[in-house]
Amino acid sequence: MQACNLQTLPSENNPLHYYVHHMLTWPSLTYVAEDARGRIVGYVIARMVEDAAGAVYGHLRALSVLRSYRRLGLARKLVLQCQEAMRTTYRAAYVALNVRKTNRAAFGLYHDALGFAVHEARKQFYANGEDAYAMRFSFEP
Ligand SMILES: CC(C)(COP(=O)(O)OP(=O)(O)OC[C@H]1O[C@@H](n2cnc3c(N)ncnc32)[C@H](O)[C@@H]1OP(=O)(O)O)[C@@H](O)C(=O)NCCC(=O)NCCS
Repeated sequence: MQACNLQTLPSENNPLHYYVHHMLTWPSLTYVAEDARGRIVGYVIARMVEDAAGAVYGHLRALSVLRSYRRLGLARKLVLQCQEAMRTTYRAAYVALNVRKTNRAAFGLYHDALGFAVHEARKQFYANGEDAYAMRFSFEP
């Protein structure tokens, strides 16, 4: 997963314990996509959190797909699997994530393909000063 991340999100790389912590704490919220030889070509990691009002929600922390495997529906499938576990295993009220304002591919995926809405804009959210959109998908009607 780190190797996959190094190619796709080099500015947001995480140490080994980050992955291990997520996989041990919320085992049904990490999924990988493999090629025919078992090499990881995409992954999603999420966690469960409680907000200030006491609602439990899923937080999508990282998602990436190797360049040559994009636009095949892998990211959509990874996120949907993760969302299903959030809803059924953890009874999440909603899913939240942050995305760079300039990340058109990720915004298109979340907004157009998966139905996430912009919850708020966050100024200079990232280390390089870039703004983020905080997005949410509600499980409640
Ligand atoms: C964002 C990312 C995960 C999408 O992965 P993917 O497997 O190519 O996405 P999918 O094939 O599941 O795409 C599903 C839908 O998302 C939208 N989408 C995906 N890539 C898009 C792009 N480059 N531009 C606009 N919309 C896009 C489309 O609606 C697409 O459906 P379509 O192919 O039928 O048009 C991938 O581009 C990536 O790894 N980027 C670098 C890492 C990153 O930005 N991660 C997200 C951080 S928040």
